[in-house]
Amino acid sequence: MADRPWWRDAVVYQVYVRSFGDSDGDGVGDLEGVRARLGYLELLGVDALWLTPFYTSPMVDHGYDVADPRSVDPLFGDLEHFDALVTDAHAHGLRVTIDLVANHTSTDHEWFRAARESAPGSPERARYHVRPGRRRADGTTGPPNDWRSEFGGPAWTELGDGEWYLHLFSPGQPDLNWTNPEVWADLEKTVRFWLDRDVDGFRIDVAHGMSKPEGLPDAAPGRPDPRFDDDGVHDVHRMIRAIVDHHPGRMVAGQLHVPDDRFAAYLRRDELHVGLTGHLLDAPFGAGPVRAAIEAAFAAVRGTGALPSWTISDHDVPRPVTRYGGGPVGLARARAMALVQLALPGTVYLYNGEELGLPDADLPEDVRRDPRRAAGRDGCRVPLPWEGGPPGFGFTTGAPWLPIPEEWTDRRVADQLEDTTSTLSVYRRALELRRCHPQFTGDGLEWYGAPDGCFAFRRAGSTLVCALNASPDPVPLPPGDVLLTSSPMVGDLLPPDSAAWLA
Ligand code: GLC
Repeated sequence: MADRPWWRDAVVYQVYVRSFGDSDGDGVGDLEGVRARLGYLELLGVDALWLTPFYTSPMVDHGYDVADPRSVDPLFGDLEHFDALVTDAHAHGLRVTIDLVANHTSTDHEWFRAARESAPGSPERARYHVRPGRRRADGTTGPPNDWRSEFGGPAWTELGDGEWYLHLFSPGQPDLNWTNPEVWADLEKTVRFWLDRDVDGFRIDVAHGMSKPEGLPDAAPGRPDPRFDDDGVHDVHRMIRAIVDHHPGRMVAGQLHVPDDRFAAYLRRDELHVGLTGHLLDAPFGAGPVRAAIEAAFAAVRGTGALPSWTISDHDVPRPVTRYGGGPVGLARARAMALVQLALPGTVYLYNGEELGLPDADLPEDVRRDPRRAAGRDGCRVPLPWEGGPPGFGFTTGAPWLPIPEEWTDRRVADQLEDTTSTLSVYRRALELRRCHPQFTGDGLEWYGAPDGCFAFRRAGSTLVCALNASPDPVPLPPGDVLLTSSPMVGDLLPPDSAAWLA
């Protein structure tokens, strides 16, 4: 165990910095707000943090549009605050990983401002994908190819002089040209900069992006999406890993939206340590789909020596309580899925507020802020209710940047800490068992026979069993001592929409 890297079984807590804690009353969370709540995170029992981007940014995509990757936006604090946060987190036994946005910059980045002001064909434009428009059959000019932006609409915007720039996300996020050596050198500098400030690792945003196929060909029906997962991306990961390997104990995780048969390549010995998968995010609640997702995630890493990672929520998808049906049923299912993910071998990523059983907030159109046009992500990004009531709920002394629903008085941290049956208490107990119980070992799974609508697996080489009841009826449990259930037992039976741990 001693030489087992810390991230292999770690529970990493994603802090959406805007929404976690606000120290200065402007309604937006900040680094000091995170620092003030490290005691909570230690009590919760997570191993590490992932901080979403806090770099200088015009905040078109809430910081995923980076204007200066080696700085802190004044909205979130400054570099001293960052250093203090890392030092204090380490003192609390928490590791700190940060987001690395390498696929694109902001249009406010000095490089893009220079590109805008420079002539077609200039070296300033060569750091991005800038192309003349393409003549259409009717004589007008349109975008250089047919790629769509992930946020809706064409992936190209005109510069005003006949040239267009590529943005796979919002028009405020121009894609960098990874055939340009300056782009490589700059990321290298950024990685070293933060390692020198003692971060424990990175979460690479759009880790299947960066490299683009030569000539930027149109999308062709039945062919892989040309915008992502170009083979050249692996060289970028090798470059990052080579630097990180000079700093023992630091890790690189990457957000990967690629087909399963393309996944393992990213986990080669000289690339990512951890691949973030959407398997559990995509699975509807049910024994069949969840088991299939778990098996697919294991299959996707086979042969790499890496374990899968697990997550049921992040800042890009509706919260599990809502996904699984909302209301008490959605909450029960989300709690059950918490036990499922935390029983699995591999890195688990929790998203702030998940441990409170927060649903998506139903926000009126006029307060929504997400640049993704369809299916906006604001509902899962609402600040956390810590204590007290609206508007600030202890998150802020001002007005929160997204309104916190009044009915979240029933989800406050302060009350849930006191209540042994709360969702927070289930998470705390689960995290404690995962950390301390001797049976949380074994890198593989064995599946048991189980009633219809249920499953049970045992971690290979241990006695730890996780049982899920997604059927409409209470069911008997497999043999073993019950360590924890996601909802109270009904006599000897596990109720519907529940999970149990036994050993
Ligand atoms: C990733 C992030 C998402 C962001 C996008 C563009 O998908 O998770 O929040 O909008 O990249 O950076």
